[in-house]
Amino acid sequence: MSTASYETVETDVLILGAGGAGLRGAIAAAEAGARVLVVCKSLLGKAHTVMAEGGVAAAMHNVAYQDSWEVHFADTMKGGKLINNWRMAEIHAKESPDRVIELERWGAVFDRTWQGRIHQRPFGAHTYPRLAHIGDRTGLELIRTLQDRAVHTAGVDVHMETTAFKLLTADGRVVGALAYRRSDGSLILYRCSALVLASGGAGKMYRVTSNSWESTGDGTALAYDAGAQLRDMEMVQFHPTGMVWPAGVRGLLVTEGVRGEGGVLRNKDGERFMERYDHERMELSSRDVVARAINSEVIAGRGTPHGGVYLDISHRKPEFIKSKLPSMYEQFLKLSNVDITKQPMEVAPTLHYMMAGVRVEPETGATNVPGLYAAGELAAGLHGANRLGGNSLSDLLVFGKRAGDAAAEAVKRSPKAGNTKIDPAQVQQAIAALMAPFDRPAGESPYKLHAEIQDTMSTHAPIVREAAGLKEGLVKIEDLRERANVCGTGGSTTLAFNPGWHTSWDIRSMLVNAEALLRSALERKESRGAHARSDYPKTDDQLASVNYITKQTPHGMSVEAEPIPTMPSYLAEILHRSYATYTPEEME
Ligand code: FUM
Repeated sequence: MSTASYETVETDVLILGAGGAGLRGAIAAAEAGARVLVVCKSLLGKAHTVMAEGGVAAAMHNVAYQDSWEVHFADTMKGGKLINNWRMAEIHAKESPDRVIELERWGAVFDRTWQGRIHQRPFGAHTYPRLAHIGDRTGLELIRTLQDRAVHTAGVDVHMETTAFKLLTADGRVVGALAYRRSDGSLILYRCSALVLASGGAGKMYRVTSNSWESTGDGTALAYDAGAQLRDMEMVQFHPTGMVWPAGVRGLLVTEGVRGEGGVLRNKDGERFMERYDHERMELSSRDVVARAINSEVIAGRGTPHGGVYLDISHRKPEFIKSKLPSMYEQFLKLSNVDITKQPMEVAPTLHYMMAGVRVEPETGATNVPGLYAAGELAAGLHGANRLGGNSLSDLLVFGKRAGDAAAEAVKRSPKAGNTKIDPAQVQQAIAALMAPFDRPAGESPYKLHAEIQDTMSTHAPIVREAAGLKEGLVKIEDLRERANVCGTGGSTTLAFNPGWHTSWDIRSMLVNAEALLRSALERKESRGAHARSDYPKTDDQLASVNYITKQTPHGMSVEAEPIPTMPSYLAEILHRSYATYTPEEME
């Protein structure tokens, strides 16, 4: 099967991904007058956004009157260990309160303070209680609200269960994408004037992850393939607390909201070990620190029988736990027969999020490829070397809207979707590559290759890395890339609902992400935020002014250091100001 026919669909703005960033972008672009088509790999509403359970970070100062955009900016920069894009951090801190209030106007339900304001809970490394939330289902509420708003906004259409596998260019611009629709196995050529990538991260390249099957790094790989630059690809986040038992649910997220509401971490000896790693912030230290602390406890033999540590909130009243953490209560009771109002949870780090991704312009989400925009988890810059919990939801609201606005604006000055000439050879080549596994019934199983990618990344690019392991991982990933180029379908011939063949494409995306991660991690010879190296255990102050940029070259992938532009003095002053600490009593 080497060629296939396809239908053609035209729109102004094509959005790949229907998580929070994609939906917020769609609303913005349509409100600006563009015809918008959202294409998503899964069903509408099923996105990694729902895994940001504990809240959306915004300096609304509803609980701590001292909070302000300045403190949020400083927290984000310090959490990201200063390699963030400072302009993105400024925009994000200034605009996230408006985006949350807008959600409230669109019908989102939030927990309330006794005065009736949106309640905000404490989270790791946020100076003040800042996370607007509804129990531990905030991401779900955000998606539900945006989905409702998007489908009721004139000009927005959605194609579900459709996977894009190639961005198409004409005269150096991205002008469309080729995609596959799972329900009938048909191919679609989307033509557009501007394209927004918002398809999330690549967590599925690790074995233990909070990510679902969709998160295979497609957007980042598509962008790279089209010539976009990637940034700080070594920076991936291990959320400190995922479930560890039973084995079938290992990695499932245990929200940081548990610690925000007073949950404590103990090792098997009952010791509250965070005292040794960050005695000031304890369980509410930044995620990189807490994840490494748990990792160290387990390696030192102080872990639980299933290889984690204990997280205990049972000192709080059962009604409080059930109202603030209803999903955690249900999740542990139903999946592991643990009643968290009485017993501790067993938890360990789980791969949760990529700070890494596509390099974008802070104001617009524009990539270096004309016509191509990116927002949400796959766009890099805001979070630097470590993301603060809750900054993901505000990120996708703020920059999803900005990318949608910018894409709608670009439509006005770009050729109409139907007027660009797409080289038919480009289309047929892409289809031939997509179909090639069908011609190799005896080729290796894509599932086996996926499992090997997960083993390689989990072994060679774990929480703490070192050069020899990273190099060995890179050799394995290069070998896997060769094998993926000749993998098969096990003899199946149908395109509709063909998960094995679909995986043959997913693994190509994961391999791009994996190779970039390993190469970038080798280049950053220091420990900074989520990137910890046992052979370079110290933070190198010189490297606070450097991002690592991944690009395509005629000789393959290259990673180069690039100086970070100097922060303007007004932001530097805000960053170095001292802010009053917060004590919970002030809240009452
Ligand atoms: O722990 C959590 O609820 C996750 C939040 C986030 O990743 O932002």
